[in-house]
Amino acid sequence: MMTTDSQLITIDNQNLVFHLHNQQISYLFRVIPEIGQLEQLYFGPAIQTPIDYHHLIVRDLRPADNQLTGDYTSSLEHIQQEYPCFGTTDFRQGAYAIKYPDGDYISEFKYQKFEITPGYLNLGELPHARYHDETATTLTITLQDAYSPLQILLHYTISQENAIIIRSTTFRNLDTTTSYHLQRALSFSLDLPDANYDLLHLHGAWAKEMQIERRHLMTGRMAIDSDRGASSHQHNPFLALARPDSTETQGLVYGATLLYSGNFLGQVEVDNYDVTRISLGISPTQFDWLLQPQSKFQTPEAILTCSQAGLTGMSQAFQTFFREHVIDQRWVDQPKPILINNWEATYFDFDEAKLLKLAQQAKALDLDLFVLDDGWFGHRDSDNGSLGNWSVDNHKLPAGLPHLANEINKLGLKFGLWFEPEMISLDTPLAAEHPEWIIGHPAKRRSHGRNQYVLDFSNPAAVTAIYNQMAKILHSTPIDYVKWDMNRYISEAFSNYLTAEQQGEFYHRYIMGVYHLYHRLLAEFPELLIESCAGGGGRFDGGMLYYASQGWASDDTDAIERLKIQYGASLLYPLQSIGAHVSAVPNHQVGRLTPLSTRAAVAVFGTFGYELDLTKLPAADLTIIKAQIQFAKRVQPLIQKGQFYRLKSPFTSNTPAWEVYDAFTKNGLIGYYQVLSPANPDYQRLVLRGLDPKQKYQLSEIDINHNSIISTVEVFGDELQNIGIILNKDYTNKAAEYWQRPQPYDFASRLFQLKPTE
Ligand code: DGJ
Repeated sequence: MMTTDSQLITIDNQNLVFHLHNQQISYLFRVIPEIGQLEQLYFGPAIQTPIDYHHLIVRDLRPADNQLTGDYTSSLEHIQQEYPCFGTTDFRQGAYAIKYPDGDYISEFKYQKFEITPGYLNLGELPHARYHDETATTLTITLQDAYSPLQILLHYTISQENAIIIRSTTFRNLDTTTSYHLQRALSFSLDLPDANYDLLHLHGAWAKEMQIERRHLMTGRMAIDSDRGASSHQHNPFLALARPDSTETQGLVYGATLLYSGNFLGQVEVDNYDVTRISLGISPTQFDWLLQPQSKFQTPEAILTCSQAGLTGMSQAFQTFFREHVIDQRWVDQPKPILINNWEATYFDFDEAKLLKLAQQAKALDLDLFVLDDGWFGHRDSDNGSLGNWSVDNHKLPAGLPHLANEINKLGLKFGLWFEPEMISLDTPLAAEHPEWIIGHPAKRRSHGRNQYVLDFSNPAAVTAIYNQMAKILHSTPIDYVKWDMNRYISEAFSNYLTAEQQGEFYHRYIMGVYHLYHRLLAEFPELLIESCAGGGGRFDGGMLYYASQGWASDDTDAIERLKIQYGASLLYPLQSIGAHVSAVPNHQVGRLTPLSTRAAVAVFGTFGYELDLTKLPAADLTIIKAQIQFAKRVQPLIQKGQFYRLKSPFTSNTPAWEVYDAFTKNGLIGYYQVLSPANPDYQRLVLRGLDPKQKYQLSEIDINHNSIISTVEVFGDELQNIGIILNKDYTNKAAEYWQRPQPYDFASRLFQLKPTE
């Protein structure tokens, strides 16, 4: 066999069989010689390059179906394909659809060549895997249409370290005169040979994002999607297929996500022979890209993983990938500033004196960053107006923003500012000057959301106008951090900028406009730290993480609800990207009273901060908060670099728990929570994971409210991984009646730290 053998890609040149592999995964496909189409052979845990591959080809007589060639086994409906097209003997959902000038959709893309290039693909402003990885290798397969000068380029990137395959597709129109309509362009499609999987995904709504749902597959289609202009609160662009017997810790799991923040479709289709087709990409709803002569269209990157170590294996592969190849490297190692945000402290009701009082208190507690949220611009005393008028409200801040920022800097705090760059209120000069920049058909209904409308970011002039306003402020005011919010979805989509024929390009062009603004701001202000937000977690995705290294996960700040939200987010996103704040009680979203210790013990497993009126707290609480902040600073390197282990799920347990552990420093932090306090409780043990079995550790229970150690024991790793932490308290007064014991309470938490014993 003649082979082309890069370290990670082995190619049988005669038979055109391609094997992408590393220590953990294998991805195998071939060219079908008779028809030139690509056939999937395997994706899963690593195997050696097969000696022969013929026995991997599955065919059966299907006389009742439409056949490509003379024999009854050539129906594409029964061939596992790499990048299928609907209608060409395959009646399942395709990965792409092209409308030709005659109005037909009949394509026939055949293998033309392959190319191997080092590194990741550079997709410009479209989020993509990045940063040097000397092992990363990309295989590109070029397919040529038999009926037109169109080409499809399928890209596959693999690297040595992680169980990840990156897939994306480029459509190229080599014609010099003719345009084609690309009406479906998913990032990947994958046919798995059986259907014995559960589908697992994250769904939600405002203030209840990232809820985990798991259901067994059925024949037919199950889809998650967003056609809202953003990836959405409703569904995260992520799906996993897990063997029914797979668990958090073991069993086969496939996962896929997108580096994309716009409309998406994630779909699983089980056919009548139990073949499972999984695909993910830009939502085809109202998508119609005019592929003009000599132009190309690039899909977002889909990130695929496969693990035999259950959901933990999948999550750690995604988290490592996001940390190492998506998030801005400046913010991977560097500690994130611990912030105070004034939103839940003041809402719209503030002036400079009030803000400075809050900032003084924040500094006294040793916080790092003061974030001024919504309401500083125009005349914004409610959510009724002023978006798009990014000039300071002189009534609230008569001395101006630079003055406020300087005063805050003088206190020793960094200064952060809230924007909602994509939005427009009708009472602004911008809306009066450029009504055509507002998304919507001039002669048809245009709905508001939170009294606001959306700027047409598919129009570069609108993006530039907002850039100019923001850049002016960022140049004149010392701003270290921007919170970029987005509080409504796009409905009645129509762009006054795009031609009638290009309206189907709107949603993708819109999100590219958003990325362009991020890109320009970061190019001009490279030191800026941006937190993305969309009414909480309405646009929390891999595309956003490329530009904004942290995201506000939810407007629900209640610690108990946050257990689920942060646990769900951890299925793929690293802790250091999940914004989490301590807020006031009664909680503003659910009215719950939770202890200050628990609020901090939950938020500390994320990008930590406070969002409450520090000036109204009793002195005792302030002392506690100061200690909590010291603790958070101490454990921050662990939160940034450690691996996350979900120990007990808040979706199924009254006592959820999680652990973060850094195998290099052998430091760990464990959070254990009790939602409701039971009478006469069961015995509880918490078995840890990922430790070095032979290592001797100091296991200390932490009092986060005093940044102190309650008790310490010396234990071996194997003890903790087999016996676990024994959680029942050993009461000193053994003869005590139960009412004489320390009062148990609801919403309790306990923290433990691990350190290696020298
Ligand atoms: C929604 C965000 O999620 C909140 O944190 C806050 O910034 C408000 N918008 C302000 O309007």
